[in-house]
Amino acid sequence: MTARIIDGKTIAHEVRAEWKERADALKARGVTPGLAVIIVGEDPASKVYVANKVKACAELGLHSEHVVLSADTSEAMLLSKIAQLNADPKIHGILVQLPVPKHIDSEKVLNAIDPNKDVDGFHPMNVGALATGNMRFAPCTPYGSMKLLEKAGVPIEGKHAVVIGRSNIVGKPMALMLLQANATVTICTSKTVDLPKYTRDADILVVATGKAKMITGDMIKPGAAVIDVGINRMENGKLCGDVDFDSAKEVAGWITPVPGGVGPMTITMLVANTVQSAERTAGSK
Ligand code: GUN
Repeated sequence: MTARIIDGKTIAHEVRAEWKERADALKARGVTPGLAVIIVGEDPASKVYVANKVKACAELGLHSEHVVLSADTSEAMLLSKIAQLNADPKIHGILVQLPVPKHIDSEKVLNAIDPNKDVDGFHPMNVGALATGNMRFAPCTPYGSMKLLEKAGVPIEGKHAVVIGRSNIVGKPMALMLLQANATVTICTSKTVDLPKYTRDADILVVATGKAKMITGDMIKPGAAVIDVGINRMENGKLCGDVDFDSAKEVAGWITPVPGGVGPMTITMLVANTVQSAERTAGSK
């Protein structure tokens, strides 16, 4: 069997067009959705991600503010910048790129963002809303992964979904969203004994471990949908996922490539959350 490739670039394009229409409708009512992206420090990967987020906003005609703070910025200074953006009516979404430097308490930072502008969905109030089935802002990477499953026509209800990774950014919210879609969900971690026992039973396998090519074809159930959230740089400079694509695609029913799978969707869903936030604000006026 050769898997159907879930083309994240094409799907992202399609989904962005839907959200552009909604953004244009808001603009016609005099409201331009606005996103502020804050980066603290010089992490090269973070700089690329943030630049891409700002670029996507510009492409859709959204207002965006790119706040670049030096690595020695104090926690108090960052909190005061967030307070300023919380009060700014042009801004409907605020995102602080993680990780932040060690001298800053990331939990304090995430808690300081107005939950109504928390387009990352990382504020405890939004995490709680997701956990209780009343989602307000879905974290972008799992939200994008769910969209890929939906657009590819992968059945979820009643299926066994296995998520490898328990991060607050991907693993935990992904598991909650799959549960909400009526999957039977297992969460595995680096400590899981006999990982292949679980992966081989997965109808949907979501891999977010940060370990290059750790899931091989022999660990996958024939016909399964494989969502690869990993982005790893190989010695030859090329990118690869947490799944060994070449062996996995011979067994899986669907698979996302790296690059060009989940990556383009993460930014798309950030735009979606920003537009949705602006819609909520405009609706209440
Ligand atoms: N760092 C890695 N992924 C993310 C994300 O989705 N949001 C933020 N804010 N930081 C990240």
